[in-house]
Amino acid sequence: MSVIWLSVFLMPVSCLLERDPDGKPGAAAENLTCWIHDVDFLECSWAVGRAAPWDVQYHLYLIQPDTYEEWECVHYTTDTQGRRTGCCFDDISGLKNHHYHFLVNGTSEASRIPCTEIFATLSEIEILAPPSISGTCNKSYSLMEWKMSSHFSSDFVYELQIYKGADPTHLDTHTVIDKNSYELVNPGTYTARIRGKNNLGYFGETWSSWSPPRSFECDNDRSLGAWPMMLSIVLGTLLTVLLVVLLCRRFSVVQKIFPPVPGIRDPIKDFFHNNRLVDWEAGAEGWQECSVEEVQAVGET
Ligand SMILES: *[C@@H]1O[C@H](CO)[C@@H](O)[C@H](O)[C@H]1NC(C)=O
Ligand SMILES: *[C@@H]1O[C@H](CO)[C@@H](O)[C@H](O)[C@H]1NC(C)=O
Ligand SMILES: *[C@@H]1O[C@H](CO)[C@@H](O)[C@H](O)[C@H]1NC(C)=O
Repeated sequence: MSVIWLSVFLMPVSCLLERDPDGKPGAAAENLTCWIHDVDFLECSWAVGRAAPWDVQYHLYLIQPDTYEEWECVHYTTDTQGRRTGCCFDDISGLKNHHYHFLVNGTSEASRIPCTEIFATLSEIEILAPPSISGTCNKSYSLMEWKMSSHFSSDFVYELQIYKGADPTHLDTHTVIDKNSYELVNPGTYTARIRGKNNLGYFGETWSSWSPPRSFECDNDRSLGAWPMMLSIVLGTLLTVLLVVLLCRRFSVVQKIFPPVPGIRDPIKDFFHNNRLVDWEAGAEGWQECSVEEVQAVGET
C-alpha cells in the first residue's frame, strides 16, 4: 500500500491524481501504445473509449517526469468521425533516453473524460531501422560495412546472412558484436543482408527487420565503379545515332516538300541553299548513307 502511495507521490502529473469522480467511465482512450520507428519518429495510437460521448476529442502529451516538461503532440490522425486516434512526433532527436510519461486526456461538452497513461523508456519502445550494407570487393577480398542509426541506443548486435553463389540454400549466418564491418576472403559472388538489435543483455530485445539484400560480384575484374562510365558511353552513342537519323530525316523531308524547281525564285529554298542544303544536295544519295557513315564514326571511338 505504501509503495502505491509513494509512486503516486513521485508522479505528480499522473492520471491517478487527475482521477475525476465526475469523469465518465469508459470514455477514456483505450489501448494506448507508443513506439519509435525510422529513427526520428515517435508514434502513439489508441482507440476511442467505447462509452465516449460523440464530441470527444483527445490530446496526447509527452511528459518528462523529473522536470515536468511537457509537449503536446501536433500531428494527429483521426478516425472517420474526426476523433483523434493517433499522433506522431516527427523530430525526437532532442529527447534523451529517459523514462517518459505518455498521457492522453480528452475534452467534451457533454462530460468529463478521464485520462489514460503509460510510462516507457525510449530505447525500449524503439523499433530499430535496419542498417544498410555498403562495401567494396575484388577477387581476393571483400569488406562490408554498415551503420545502425538510433538516437537512444548505441550498442548493437548484428546478424549477417551471406548467400554464396547462385545457390540460395548455401547460407552462412554470422553474429557480429561491437563491430560495424565484416571481411571475407576469396568472396566470389554472394548476396548479403543484415539485421540488428540492442545489446542490452536482457532477453526479449527485438530484431530490426532485415536490410534489403545486397549482391556483390567480386570475381570479375571490372570493378563496380566502371559501370556508370560504360552506361554513359552506350547512352551517348545511342543519342548521337538518334540525332543523326532525325537530322537526315528532316532534311530529306524538306527536300521532298520543296523539290528544286528551276527558274522560280523561292525564298525558303534560297534560305536552304544559302545554308547547308547545298552541301547536302551535292552528295545526295539519301539519308541512309549519312547515318551509316556517322554510326561507323561513333563506333570507332
Ligand atoms: C483494446 O484491446 C483489447 C484487447 O486487444 C480489445 O478487446 C478491446 O476491444 C480494445 N478496445 C477498443 C476500444 O478497441
Ligand atoms: C491534459 O493533460 C495535460 C498534461 O498534463 C494538461 O496540461 C491539460 O490541461 C490536460 N487537459 C485536460 C482537459 O484535462
Ligand atoms: C584487393 O583489395 C585489397 C584491399 O583493398 C588489396 O589489398 C588487394 O591488393 C586487392 N587485390 C587485388 C587482386 O586487386
